[in-house]
Amino acid sequence: MSGADATNPKPARRATVMAVTSGKGGVGKTFVSANLAVALARRGERVLVLDADLGLANLDVVLNLFPKITLHDVFTGKHTLDEAIVAVPGGFSALLAGSGMVEYSRMTPELRERLTQVIDEVAPRFDRILLDTGAGISDVVLYTVSLADEVVIVATPEPTSLTDAYATIKVLAAQQNRRSLRVVINQVLRAGEGRVIRGQLQAVVDRFVTPLDPESPVKLELLGEIPSDPAVREAIKRRQLVSTVSPGAPSAQAFGMLAGKLCG
Ligand SMILES: Nc1ncnc2c1ncn2[C@@H]1O[C@H](COP(=O)(O)OP(=O)(O)O)[C@@H](O)[C@H]1O
Ligand SMILES: [Mg+2]
Repeated sequence: MSGADATNPKPARRATVMAVTSGKGGVGKTFVSANLAVALARRGERVLVLDADLGLANLDVVLNLFPKITLHDVFTGKHTLDEAIVAVPGGFSALLAGSGMVEYSRMTPELRERLTQVIDEVAPRFDRILLDTGAGISDVVLYTVSLADEVVIVATPEPTSLTDAYATIKVLAAQQNRRSLRVVINQVLRAGEGRVIRGQLQAVVDRFVTPLDPESPVKLELLGEIPSDPAVREAIKRRQLVSTVSPGAPSAQAFGMLAGKLCG
């Protein structure tokens, strides 16, 4: 092998890995991951959503799938990744996890290795991987987020959600030296609410989060806002995604805009 090849290998095409996370639970991480995946797939991206809420997984419920093979089987070596990846109506792929598995509530060296391995193995096959994480700042969530190239923080306009979003931002800035984070404000009641809330969060961050390097402060970018939408409840009752059953609904349209922003 020539010296040039050894020092400058051709970079393999690899998916952009995005963690979809939040401070508080129930704010719409799974909803955002799945519907954003539909919108990105419509734009021609090969998208994989990985249910990284390992102990309390519910992407399968949202997608109305009854997986026989889950990430757990991949982690334990019982099945291959190819057997675990499922094609979802809506044009994307998913890696589902099982619910109620207490062994995934705590980070261990094995879990660390398995998660990293799985992401490394699927990355060359997709354009984008969305990690639908658990809520909060447990070591499992933080480690999962650390594997991502980019972070999307989901929050609703509720004060408790915003306080917890701020806590997450603070920890990610301090522990992972994240300088640039995207926010999605979900369940907004008025157009423009997302922009206002991003501004408020940024003001708190500017005031209280001291970056290691004062030249590079932590910046929050609004990826978009999603309206609170009755069509979502209707879709969930039918165990389908609003973006596939009601593409004209306000929330589905909003995901189209988010995808447009991500695709450039
Ligand atoms: N934009 C929205 N409009 C209406 N309902 C929503 C919206 N976003 C989320 N929901 C409701 O909130 C619930 C929780 O969302 P989910 O994605 O499961 O949260 P998380 O993954 O953060 O725990 C959903 O099942 C849905 O009923
Ligand atoms: Mg969830």
